Formats: sequence, structure tokens, C-alpha cells
Amino acid sequence: MNFSDKYQDVIKEARSLVQPALDLSAKMMREVAENSPSGLRERITQTVERPGKRLRSMLLFLLAKSNGETEDLTRMARAASSVEMLHLASLVHDDVIDRSEFRRGQSSMHSAFGNKIAVLAGDYMLAQSLIFVLEEEDRRIPKNLANAASSLVAGEILEIDHAGNTNISFEEYIQVIEGKTASLLVSCAKCGAILAGYSPEIVEDCGRLGLHFGIAFQIIDDILDYGVGAESLGKKNFEDLQNGLITLPMLLYFQKNSKEEMENFIKNAYEPSTANLIVEKLEMANCFEDAKNIAYSHLQKATEVLEKLPSNHINTLLKDFFEAMTERRN
Ligand code: FPP
Ligand code: MG
Repeated sequence: MNFSDKYQDVIKEARSLVQPALDLSAKMMREVAENSPSGLRERITQTVERPGKRLRSMLLFLLAKSNGETEDLTRMARAASSVEMLHLASLVHDDVIDRSEFRRGQSSMHSAFGNKIAVLAGDYMLAQSLIFVLEEEDRRIPKNLANAASSLVAGEILEIDHAGNTNISFEEYIQVIEGKTASLLVSCAKCGAILAGYSPEIVEDCGRLGLHFGIAFQIIDDILDYGVGAESLGKKNFEDLQNGLITLPMLLYFQKNSKEEMENFIKNAYEPSTANLIVEKLEMANCFEDAKNIAYSHLQKATEVLEKLPSNHINTLLKDFFEAMTERRN
């Protein structure tokens, strides 16, 4: 069995373990979409119903179940719905910013309905995301999610400020992806740990797990944007380069090679032949492999945290999940 099959198998097993919680959360989100004001109702329903991986919910649910105690499905599903709605809101806005035409194989909100609707629909979804956890008795949960929403914005702004900056440092790149992606996974992991009833110390440890998982997840996303190892992404390749975003593979290339020639290629990255040439050059310099190894080192750090949690079936599944993650293709 190759690693890609292993990734699919692990996801399948994890999904089946948390299926009731996933179903309840899907129902809650559908209800919110269907109760939206006319003008937003159909548009938000379409966004919510798009098939997605729901990895954030799965991480939250698995951690919530990882201590083996009786679970509260409603609290779990509310927290996950909040996370997913926040994530979807941020993607609706992100597609406006990145001028992305497609999301999960369908027209993005702004390309179907225009920027004005997309901005307002994203705002509405952000508000609904926070309403999901308004009545949550453990106030750390809404606080975590509100913090994540703020960090997403900060990360995205930082990314915009660095657009076109071929001198971006490794630390600055990590700061961007911590903000725009890992912060929400930190929040998922912490909410899961809170719902599992873990001590504040373990909740913080789980936050670290989410951080490293989130950094690895975005590094892999950035590799996939080059079309390397990608299949059925449901979005276009090379959008990062075309938007002037220098992500890890390119950063690694700059560490070992002259920038001048590559900077000229980047300016023409919208031409397919130039984009392919860039991929070839990065491949020759081993940049995708090196970036993958960095992602893998973060996944190992996430795995180390699992040693602090009860050793059981879910713990093993999370370990396999992290190990197989570098082989994700969409
Ligand atoms: C996708 O990155 C974008 C994000 C993970 C975060 C976007 C955040 C915002 C727009 C600000 C916050 C907004 C709200 C409503 C709180 P990507 O462009 O690298 O990935 P992609 O290729 O999937 O688009
Ligand atoms: Mg984008």
C-alpha cells in the first residue's frame, strides 16, 4: 500500500469514527444557511453544501473523544460548526483577495455573484460562526474562536504586505501561515481538548499540536499550488505565484540560487510555459522535497504531543493521520 492510499484509509477511518458528530454539525450549518435572509439564503446554502474535507472538525472531534469519556455531541457539533463556518467565511473573503475563480471545483462566491455579495456573505457567515458558540457554557471556547478569527485577519494582512517581497525571511513566512491557517487549527485542537475535559496544561499542549499540524497543512497546500503531487484540487494552480506570494518552495530556492533570473520568471508566471519552467527549476533544486521535509518535521512535533494523551485507538489514529498527511493530494 502506498502512502497516498494510507492517507485515504486513515481519513476514512477517522471520518467513520466521528460520523454522528459530522452529520449533526452539517445539519446545524444547513439550518443556519436556510434561515439566512433572502438574497443570501441560496448563496450561503451553496457554499455550505460544497463537499469539503472537514479536517478541522475531524481534529476537534477526535481530540474531544480522545479521553474515552462520555461525549456531548451537541457541544461538539456546535463548536465544529463555528469553526467550519468561520473557515468558509474566510475562504469567501480570501477568494476575493486572491481573485480565485474556483473553490472546491465550483465558482467562488465572488466570481458567481460579484465582490459586494461575497464580502457581505462572508461577514454574515462570520457573525453566524460566533452565534454557534454564544451559549457554550465553557467561555474558553468562544474566546478561542474569536481569537482565531482575529489571527486569520492578521495573517492575511501580513501576507498582503509581503506580496511581491522576494526577500521574505523563513520566519516571516512562518508568521504568515501561523496566522492565516494554523491559528484556526490551534483553536480546533484547544476546543477539542476543552470538550474532552483535559487540564489547562494539556489544553495548551493540544494547542501546540494544532499549531504544528496547521503549519504543516499550509506548507503542503503551498506545494500543491505548484501542481506538484496534486490531484482534483478544485482550484487553479500557480495562484500564489501569480499573486506575488513567495511560499516555502521558492524561499528554499532563493536560499541556494540567484534571485535575479527567477524574479523575471515570477513576473511572467501567468504564462503556462514559464510556470512549468519554474516548477522544473524548483524540482531540480529539490525545493519541493525540502519543503515536504519541513512539513514532516512539524507533523512529528504534533505527534510528540500525543504522548501526553491517553494511549488508545484514537491516539493511534491521530498518529497515523499526522504521518500520512504529507501525502495529501488535494
Ligand atoms: C486560504 O489561503 C486563506 C486562509 C486560510 C485565511 C483567509 C483569511 C481571511 C481572508 C481573513 C479572515 C476573514 C474572516 C471572515 C475572519 P490560501 O489562499 O493560501 O489557500 P487557497 O489556495 O485554498 O485559497
Ligand atoms: Mg486563496
